[in-house]
Amino acid sequence: MKHPLRKVVIPAAGLGTRFLPATKAVPKEMLPIVDTPTIQLIVEEAVRAGVQQVIVVNGRGKGAIEDHFDRSYELEDTLTRKGKKDLFELVRKISDSVRLSSVRQKEPMGLGHAVLAAKAAVGDDWFGVLLGDDLIDSEEPGIGQLARVSMQTGKATVALMPVPDDQVHLYGVAAGKALPDGNITVEKMVEKPPRGTAPSNLAVIGRYVLPPDIFGILEKVKPGAGGEIQLTDALAVLAQEGRLIGVRFKGERHDAGDRLGYLQANIAWALKRPDLRDGLLAYLRKVTQ
Ligand code: UTP
Repeated sequence: MKHPLRKVVIPAAGLGTRFLPATKAVPKEMLPIVDTPTIQLIVEEAVRAGVQQVIVVNGRGKGAIEDHFDRSYELEDTLTRKGKKDLFELVRKISDSVRLSSVRQKEPMGLGHAVLAAKAAVGDDWFGVLLGDDLIDSEEPGIGQLARVSMQTGKATVALMPVPDDQVHLYGVAAGKALPDGNITVEKMVEKPPRGTAPSNLAVIGRYVLPPDIFGILEKVKPGAGGEIQLTDALAVLAQEGRLIGVRFKGERHDAGDRLGYLQANIAWALKRPDLRDGLLAYLRKVTQ
């Protein structure tokens, strides 16, 4: 990549079955971390990294996401009339922070298929991908860490995180040649390797910076298990060509699409809030005695 990252795609068209019944009518990306929808925290990460355009991949019944980033005249009017200036600014900031558009994935046919749905909106440019349910809590935004490496090397990047051996089979896994800065040149990628067969303990986390020719590669990927088009299969092509770096990012990652991960993210975020920290700590002490 020869220029700073300008565009990102946020796939948010999955069914969220792990969160039923909550996700029957509400997209899981709208479930709040304390009081802020998960997807807003992800958009904020992209904005902090200097991104100007966000493309959300929506599915059926995901209008709530578009509404959330749109102006809400009734709400803004009521808040103004009631003199609630702080809340007015909070609500206004959400719609003013970034240029956001959405595209539709007609059927949830996998992450690769969701990224492909954004092809026309992205055009002939490098772009980032941030999964709509994966949170990275870090000083330098997660996607910004990847963009920096893509600019330095001219290569695509994927976020990697070491996980305990007994959990590797739950993730996409990458292996390759170690670079002096702790990152790796990815040579191999495997989606959820059977226990004991993983080529490393470096799990792929939901952040990527990709070149525009990834769309042509995705168009050739054959549907795998469950008829899904896997992004990992397209990344494996980049890896074979020596065009993919695995970035050991700095920060805490939370899987907000998983029930335990979601609860942990809520506690982590609440503990950072001065208005909630003491009360929450007192409660946790009481219930864990
Ligand atoms: P997940 O596999 O975590 O989402 O995809 P899911 O399928 O909704 O989850 P469960 O297992 O049924 O609970 C990671 C991200 O990719 C999006 C999801 O919305 C989520 O943000 N995604 C997944 C799509 O946009 N389209 C798809 O076809 C699949």
